[in-house]
Amino acid sequence: MDLREKVDINNLPKHIAVIMDGNGRWAKQRGGLRIFGHKSAITAVRETVEAAAELGVQYLTLYAFSTENWSRPASEVSALMQLLVTTIRKETATLNKNNIRLQTIGDTDSLPKSCQQELMEAIEMTSGNSRMTLVLALSYSGRWELTQAMKKLASKVERGELQAAEITESMVAANLATAGMPDPELLIRTSGEMRISNFLLWQLAYTELYITELLWPDFRKEHLYEAIISYQRRERRFGKTSEQLIK
Ligand code: IPE
Ligand code: IPE
Ligand code: MG
Repeated sequence: MDLREKVDINNLPKHIAVIMDGNGRWAKQRGGLRIFGHKSAITAVRETVEAAAELGVQYLTLYAFSTENWSRPASEVSALMQLLVTTIRKETATLNKNNIRLQTIGDTDSLPKSCQQELMEAIEMTSGNSRMTLVLALSYSGRWELTQAMKKLASKVERGELQAAEITESMVAANLATAGMPDPELLIRTSGEMRISNFLLWQLAYTELYITELLWPDFRKEHLYEAIISYQRRERRFGKTSEQLIK
């Protein structure tokens, strides 16, 4: 049975977001260090990016490093940053070959200079690509993003360019790191944790959640298909009644 054929490509989520979790546990199960789990997760990233682009998903956002992840042991943080640099360097050509544009959301100024440099180059080199946008959430948290948006709007009010009473939901959205992107219709979280962990707090308001026990390094194309098929079986009511939707 080919799962890919069960995906209705006329009803694809435009934007899929993923909390890639469970690398540490995956390594521990194999008697390895946590960084072994992070390194082994690259295959899952590659497969997910490829599968999403092949299907025709427009935006794929991967939660790669949260604001809170800075509190991990310094050795893990620096190994993750190093892995980020080498992976981006290695994968940029493949992104170009697959016509995928790279973007980031998050406080990227707080990343080591080498990461910032590597990211800037990859973003620039892939900026003309149009099949899919791959968004890496790096040093990202929903509360950081909302605070940034509030500061931007408040300074407009301070400068007299905007009245507080005129602030609308779309203005808030336009001041988030995800400005211009559709909200994700589907959020996937691996490793079975039933929480959002400060990801896309505004954007996930009506997102369908799909949580799998699978640990992230084991995630493959077929698991993405499974998640999309599950999403396609759901009834998204947005507060309405089921009867209203059938009309
Ligand atoms: C996700 O895996 C990767 C990052 C948060 C960077 P974890 O490192 O959180 O793995 P677990 O949750 O400890 O298994
Ligand atoms: C969420 O995973 C962040 C990323 C996947 C980058 P964590 O492993 O940091 O989440 P918590 O701390 O268990 O909620
Ligand atoms: Mg975790």
